[in-house]
Amino acid sequence: MPTLIIVGAQWGDEGKGKVVDHFAAHADMVARYQGGNNAGHTLVVDGERTVVHLIPAGVLHPGTTCVLGNGVVIDPSVLCEEISGLQKRGYLGDPAQLRIDERAHVILPVHRLLDRAREQSLADRAIGTTGRGIGPCYEDKAARRGVRMVDMLDPSYFRDAVDKILAERGPLLKLYGEEPPSREEICAEYDGHAERLRPYVTDATEVIADAIATGKRILFEGAQAAMLDVDHGTYPFVTSSNTVAGVVGSGAGVAPKHVGRVLGIAKSYTTRVGAGPFPTELEDEVGARLRQVGGEFGATTGRPRRCGWFDAVVVRQAARLSGLSGIALTKLDVLSGIHPLKIATAYESGGRRYDRVPASVSALAGARPVYEELDGWSEDLSGARRFEDLPTAAQRYISRIEELTATPVTLISVGAEREETILLRDPFLL
Ligand code: GDP
Ligand code: IMO
Ligand code: MG
Repeated sequence: MPTLIIVGAQWGDEGKGKVVDHFAAHADMVARYQGGNNAGHTLVVDGERTVVHLIPAGVLHPGTTCVLGNGVVIDPSVLCEEISGLQKRGYLGDPAQLRIDERAHVILPVHRLLDRAREQSLADRAIGTTGRGIGPCYEDKAARRGVRMVDMLDPSYFRDAVDKILAERGPLLKLYGEEPPSREEICAEYDGHAERLRPYVTDATEVIADAIATGKRILFEGAQAAMLDVDHGTYPFVTSSNTVAGVVGSGAGVAPKHVGRVLGIAKSYTTRVGAGPFPTELEDEVGARLRQVGGEFGATTGRPRRCGWFDAVVVRQAARLSGLSGIALTKLDVLSGIHPLKIATAYESGGRRYDRVPASVSALAGARPVYEELDGWSEDLSGARRFEDLPTAAQRYISRIEELTATPVTLISVGAEREETILLRDPFLL
């Protein structure tokens, strides 16, 4: 089956963008199916850096159709800016390269205001959201008062829908001391976005179905990651969408019989941005070194990412939840020069041993990782293009991750550049 789902296996920022861009050369379509511009995916090609927040990471390949599925939440001002930025650099010349589902929900200024006001009022109990309005937009979707792309294109319906949202959200914003924008202000801005985005909006589920029917190669690009999933992650320190592979069904309208392989992206260590439990976090000089060498600063908010050892409990759980057929292990180059390396194989908390991630936040917050030590290596890995090019200690590190997660490592990334990649197996044939 020529479809491949790519998902984050930790807390996000694993390098999904790099891997999608790498494979997109051999894909006809790349589709997103959840999340919004809380995502930040960095692509590096010939030294040139591109960060995409909404547009799928296949966009640098002119022959690859990029789809925003119905499950994505879209901030039209961010999308318009992203389109313009890419077009200025010679990408997305053909509007047909980008398809936006008409049922995707729209982020309004009230969503952004509410997200930020709530976080501010929570102070040291804040989730550390990206402040992009993602949570409030998904709330309005579930509450059946959301605005979809198709609704934004219909001026009279849009006005009624905005009134409905303002009636609910306006008083709440005032409680937080925020003045809600007026219907006129919102409509003046969004009518402009509607005209700019109209050519791209369509029934994307049909576009995807046609691609499947004609045997096209399709990549489904996940945003965020397993531990940020609203059901399966470290709730409540999660995002507001489901992020596991099964969501391709609801978020892009693809029936289960059409999806087969799933590639999980995992960093060779662990990072997390935002608040919440993180058992293998390192608040010492090793953590600082990972942050500095790995350039661990958020692509969306610029916040420093929290860094720690590889957590096999987390990745094993992600492998189970998304049925990973393989792991793409990224940023192996960043570990060069650290001796010894540690991998968490289990946790101990409250006198209990856990081989899985506990659901209770307090159990997880109190979890002490059970570590296994492995030899490090000193060599620069960025030139490695075959498994055999890696030092023996690095090979052992990878094999141990395969054993602990019961999943084969099928790609190794040794640098941010598209070509700094060791491909062990064709992802579509895993
Ligand atoms: P995503 O959200 O999963 O797409 O990941 P991000 O793009 O937010 O963060 C990953 C960061 O690591 C980006 O800056 C990438 O350019 C960079 N990166 C990806 N793979 C590698 C790698 O193998 N080595 C190094 N050194 N950097 C990498
Ligand atoms: P990519 O796709 C890392 C985190 C936020 C916060 C929590 C909720 O680049 O991997 P939200 O704004 O979604 O309500 O924030 O989720 N978060 C991410 N962390 N990478 C991301 O995306 C993230 N998207 C959201 O930091 O902890
Ligand atoms: Mg990111």
